[in-house]
Amino acid sequence: MTYQNYSLKQLQQIDAAHHLHPFTDHKELRETGSRIITHANGPFIYDSEGAEILDGMAGLWCVNIGYGRNELAEAAYTQMKELPYYNSFFKCSTPTPVLLSRKLAEIAPKHVNQVFYGSSGSEANDTALRLVRHYWGLEGKPEKNRIISRKMAYHGSTVAGTSLGGMDAMHKQLGGAVPNIVHVMMPYAYELALPGESDHDFGLRAAKAVEDAILEAGADKVAAFIGEPVMGAGGVKIPPASYWPEVQRICRKYDVLLMLDEVITGYGRTGEWFAAQTFGIEPDTITTAKALTSGYQPLSALLVGDRIAATLVEKGGEFYHGYTYSGHPVACAVALKNLEIIENEGLVDRVRNETGPYFAKALQERIAGHDLVGEVRSIGLMGAIEIVKDKATKERFLPSGSAAVTVRDHAIGQGMMLRATGDTMILSPPLIWTRDTIDMACERIVRALDLAQADLRKR
Ligand SMILES: Cc1ncc(COP(=O)(O)O)c(C=O)c1O
Repeated sequence: MTYQNYSLKQLQQIDAAHHLHPFTDHKELRETGSRIITHANGPFIYDSEGAEILDGMAGLWCVNIGYGRNELAEAAYTQMKELPYYNSFFKCSTPTPVLLSRKLAEIAPKHVNQVFYGSSGSEANDTALRLVRHYWGLEGKPEKNRIISRKMAYHGSTVAGTSLGGMDAMHKQLGGAVPNIVHVMMPYAYELALPGESDHDFGLRAAKAVEDAILEAGADKVAAFIGEPVMGAGGVKIPPASYWPEVQRICRKYDVLLMLDEVITGYGRTGEWFAAQTFGIEPDTITTAKALTSGYQPLSALLVGDRIAATLVEKGGEFYHGYTYSGHPVACAVALKNLEIIENEGLVDRVRNETGPYFAKALQERIAGHDLVGEVRSIGLMGAIEIVKDKATKERFLPSGSAAVTVRDHAIGQGMMLRATGDTMILSPPLIWTRDTIDMACERIVRALDLAQADLRKR
């Protein structure tokens, strides 16, 4: 029986009765009911009432090639018929993860040539954490195991992901994080730069926080620093250009590994295959997931640099870690086809040379001037709009986050899917967006801002 046999009301009732959603207040959800998305095509999603919504979030930062791509369905179908599953444990392999690994080594930075698979970004970060600690163990320095991360970082929702992440609310519910992970300041100039401090100087100061944390613990106790190149779920926080090179210099100085979490930025979002290339840095691990398959299959790939890989091979000994679905043949077949499409359609170059710059200009020229907007910023095809009560003082509406939710609700009403994170609206659309799609998005966002402003004034 397919869902078409059910009315929207019935689906919502069944959903409320049986389905616990991620990151959801279930009391509130029972009162409102869920929005049921039934199908999608190109840049649009459709709900069960037939509303067409432009998807400004590419699902959840993942559907880079847009919806309705038959080639991916066919790749999955063909692979399922031939070999739906076999594991990659016990010295076995299957063809598609083999070929995907070679492809990933080809597009990754030069010094990155090995891949470890999982099914989600959280799993991949779990692997990354285990791997860097294992690395230092193999190097005879097991006490070099502290990880430095950042406040407001998002690295997933497993115990390891939450521990690496810097979200206070998540830590509160965790009731005990993985030990020996510390969090330093984030490179978020809009709120944290001092009066008169240049972006450049702020970036260096934020990087200095990493050095301070290394010195506090002692370099011989610090395994790695982990960061999202652009903090995504924390509000598309784009660091100043001075930040990453300085963080890399500091990591090298103290022989601390650099772990980059590219679960959002990987596979073209910033106008290069990876943001490591955009920022010109050479991380020891790169966590990827999401757009690796454009979300059509769950798959993650931890890309591992030569330094760590060489030690694994030279020192030997089993790495006691892996997942049933590591290197899943169907997910890898879909990923191969997805990367082929991104490549054939030139989507990465298009973001770098055309749509990324157009998107930045459109946000600046059409959105930044609105009374509710404190700042807009973007890199490639990811952007943020800061919602404020007062542009000059950056004062926010109270309660915190409420204004952004008002904007988001109006945006959806205007046929525009945006996400609200704290007081920030975020955008991370499919890479197939064109200038026309960007124009359409801006028109809808401005209408939503106007409606939200009228509401907020009444309050
Ligand atoms: C930077 C980053 N890391 C890790 C994750 C976790 O990925 P997943 O939800 O696939 O476990 C996310 C999810 O949004 C993310 O943004």
